[in-house]
Amino acid sequence: MRKNPVSCKLDGLEELENPERICVKFKRTNYCGKLTTGDVTRTVVLAGWVQSYRDHGGVVFIDLRDRTGIVQIVFRPELAMIHALARQLRHEDVILVQGQVNKRSADALNPRIPTGEIEVVAQDMELANKADTVPFSPTQHDPVSEDTRLKYRYIDLRRAEMGEAMITRHRVTKIMRDYCDEHGFLEIETPMLYKSTPEGAREFLVPSRLHPGEFYALPQSPQLFKQVLMVAGMDRYMQIARCFRDEDLRMDRQPEFTQLDLEMSFVDRDDVIDLVTGLLVRLWKQVLNVDLPATFPRMSWREAMDRFGIDRPDTRYGVELKDISDIVPQTEFGVFKAAVTSGGCVKMIAVPGGAALSRKQLDQLTEDARKLGAGGLAWIKLGGEAGAGTMGGPIAKFIPTAQQQALRQRCGADDGDILLAVADKQEVAWKVLGELRQSLARQLKLIPENRFNFLWIVDFPSFEHDPAANRLIARHHPFTAPLDEDIPLLDSQPLAVRAKAYDIVLNGIEIGGGSIRIHQREVQSKIFSLLGISPPQAQKKFAFLLDALRFGAPPHGGIALGLDRLVMLMLNRQSIREVIAFPKTQSGTDMMTEAPSTVDLRQLVELSLAVVQPAITGSGAAAKTAASPG
Ligand code: AMO
Ligand code: AMP
Repeated sequence: MRKNPVSCKLDGLEELENPERICVKFKRTNYCGKLTTGDVTRTVVLAGWVQSYRDHGGVVFIDLRDRTGIVQIVFRPELAMIHALARQLRHEDVILVQGQVNKRSADALNPRIPTGEIEVVAQDMELANKADTVPFSPTQHDPVSEDTRLKYRYIDLRRAEMGEAMITRHRVTKIMRDYCDEHGFLEIETPMLYKSTPEGAREFLVPSRLHPGEFYALPQSPQLFKQVLMVAGMDRYMQIARCFRDEDLRMDRQPEFTQLDLEMSFVDRDDVIDLVTGLLVRLWKQVLNVDLPATFPRMSWREAMDRFGIDRPDTRYGVELKDISDIVPQTEFGVFKAAVTSGGCVKMIAVPGGAALSRKQLDQLTEDARKLGAGGLAWIKLGGEAGAGTMGGPIAKFIPTAQQQALRQRCGADDGDILLAVADKQEVAWKVLGELRQSLARQLKLIPENRFNFLWIVDFPSFEHDPAANRLIARHHPFTAPLDEDIPLLDSQPLAVRAKAYDIVLNGIEIGGGSIRIHQREVQSKIFSLLGISPPQAQKKFAFLLDALRFGAPPHGGIALGLDRLVMLMLNRQSIREVIAFPKTQSGTDMMTEAPSTVDLRQLVELSLAVVQPAITGSGAAAKTAASPG
């Protein structure tokens, strides 16, 4: 029988029937990664996973890992029993070890790990769980497919990078809660089973058993509840809120994601912007030890579009869009001239070093431009084969020397650069050049690293025109207040109306957005009517909000920060999946639990549901049903 380990003294142990059996279990005293030279000579009990094992002529070395890091354990042959046990240890076995912390000899120091100056000489050991051969090792360098990582997420989460992501996420939400608490916010939970209000993204529906044929929706955000909480006098609300949106997924989009959701009463736009800026400054300082400026630059939506072609510009590099419509009439290039005379425009970017792009790369860029909606992409190489100060490419010959100079000057371009132009409607030129600007900057490595460029975008248009439905749609959401000075334009020029909305952008990614809300029922009804939502429809969808606005609504506004995106950018990861414990794949599947999945017929019947196989939906044929309601 082993000696009792150090900290096995459980209170009330003598009352147990068979205390010895419990006492052979070790109890951890320290974390592996937290041991320091200050612990030398102490006896400790560690618990963790076998990261690596080496059998060096009798002495067995184990790297033992827990959430905090690794430490080297030494098993000497003198202790025959545990030495024999140690020789059988393999990757990812779970053990508890009691031993003494020793200083390593000078020739055995390992500067690559924080515990590299010490090791623990084992005195006793317990095997808690023998692991089967793992599908991949948490330390392996060869790439494992993301699907495999997600299927065995519990192994993937053992990797140091994933541990760092989880710890950072925890720290970020902790700081958010503390900051909001200091600023007078109450954390209030809002329902997950909510009412379907088809505006914005597609919703996930949940059938109601008690009300056959009726559905809840999962909230896209707690938007309406937080506004109602302001009417309820809660004054300042915050929530680390889960949101659900059935959208096409991308690197920075998940079907369920997390927001820091905020709402405040009796505030204006600057109050919200200042509060969130202060939070971001604190997060960067406390988590990354990076000092951000106390205020971030602001840019109107219009300026962002004109200069960058996108409403979430990455300002870490230039390559700004220039309008050259005024220079075009003095050239002989038909495509450009036609665009301008038909009311469109010609916009151009100068890409540094772009003259080196091959014909094949340029064909690909033209193809990309077409996919984004352009009729084509015009390119001009500066200072190519024909020598310094010249222009090359298929359209250069249509541009007289004076206009060549004007283009160079307008774009701030020089020999070695390439000029790319799109002639089209303004929206198309913005979109195409805005996208190409970003993909070329990545491709040509024009983006400086280790920089955090925060930017507030303000003065968004309230509405945009949806060509498919030929109607106005809300750019942010229909509860966003228009700028006071633009209210008279609601009837005459709705597309010119700007909203009290703001987005916070970091390095070209939208990390948050919000607005000051409408707090007067008449204005809200007016906006609904502009959006083609009739009074009965509005009443059906938003009765509670419209009612609330009648019964004492304070002026209020708020914002939501995308927590996943924020942590992704803090840690310089490529996808939000890298900072979410259990994310879905691009096709919305949970690889580990294998959701979504089919359900028993019995469950469907209970919910009064029938499944119509998609392949024959709308074919006119009788739909194949898995169960019939009632
Ligand atoms: P919005 O829809 O702009 O605003 O969302 C706020 C922020 O949430 C993040 N986000 C996402 N993150 C991951 N996956 C997604 N699918 C996803 N969709 C959005 C973004 C975004 O900036 N109720 C309003 C806020 C308000 O007006 O107060 C709202 O939800 O970082
Ligand atoms: P084309 O006259 O179609 O042979 O086009 C001549 C050049 O102009 C090609 O390089 C096209 O890619 C480019 N081009 C065509 N349409 C546009 C457009 N709308 N904007 C910019 N370039 C264009």
